[in-house]
Amino acid sequence: MNKDFKIAIIGSGTMGNGIAHVSAQSGFQTTVVDLNDEQLNNAFSVISSNLDRQIKKNIISLVDKEQILNNITLTTDISDCKNIDLVIEAIPEKYDLKVSLFKELDSICKKETIFASNTSSISISNLGNQTNRPSNIIGMHFMNPVPIMKLVEVINTIHTSNDTTNQIIQLAKVMGKTPVQCNDYPGFVSNRILMPMINEAIFCVEQNVAEKEAIDEIMKLGMSHPMGPLQLADFIGLDVCLDIMEVLWIGFNDSKYRPCTLLKTMVSSGLLGKKSGRGFYKYD
Ligand code: NAI
Repeated sequence: MNKDFKIAIIGSGTMGNGIAHVSAQSGFQTTVVDLNDEQLNNAFSVISSNLDRQIKKNIISLVDKEQILNNITLTTDISDCKNIDLVIEAIPEKYDLKVSLFKELDSICKKETIFASNTSSISISNLGNQTNRPSNIIGMHFMNPVPIMKLVEVINTIHTSNDTTNQIIQLAKVMGKTPVQCNDYPGFVSNRILMPMINEAIFCVEQNVAEKEAIDEIMKLGMSHPMGPLQLADFIGLDVCLDIMEVLWIGFNDSKYRPCTLLKTMVSSGLLGKKSGRGFYKYD
């Protein structure tokens, strides 16, 4: 893929900074957009320290690190996306937020620009239908932590063109990832299966079926999961887990997807997991 291809990442939180990291490391000029400089600077230092970790593991050199960081431009001005070829959206899992962003981008970007959403569960078709370019809309669902996890779930809508899909598949491979395609349906494949399991683990805590450590240990040792479901929920962000459960619940209108009350209470109490310092476990 041509390295003149310009990529913008909107949102520089947990996922956005990881996507910016792999995009810049793959040699692309990468514009990172967020709401304020503090968040952008924080994302930049997270990328910098993750690159330091790669230096320690002899994956990259110090010179590579400088080049990768040079590929990144930080901005709070969305109109800097005017000449971008691909926008990857990684803002919070809220439908209204994403719709208004897609509408704004539609009026700013050239007509060929592809819009990819990193959403965990929100309908890509609905997002696409709010724009004048539904054939250029696709889901590009990276996994957390982005620099390490190989999978990119590529989500096609009825309107996504073959050209859009092929470009995203090719790009994911250039980024060193393994793209796997699926169709647009609530939660796609990954979160339709993962989130009900996490939600059920939270019901086990709520109903005092076992201690949280025991629940995680049973799933790790018994099912060969690398991380227990509660630890994973902390890592993903409990707010993100709740948002996804709500999309599944509304999308399928089936009570088996109802979010556990304990999950709702923890989110409304600000216990969001690793990013807030406390979820099921405590973090420094
Ligand atoms: P986050 O809350 O860590 O980061 C979101 C960022 O977007 C924040 O920095 C916020 O300031 C910024 N933002 C909000 N509105 C904006 C706007 N209008 N323009 C520019 N920036 C804006 O969220 P996280 O966890 O990175 O999630 C982002 C997306 O990725 C969500 O759709 C989520 O479902 C999805 N996702 C999350 C995963 C996870 O493990 N956290 C895994 C895979 C997908």
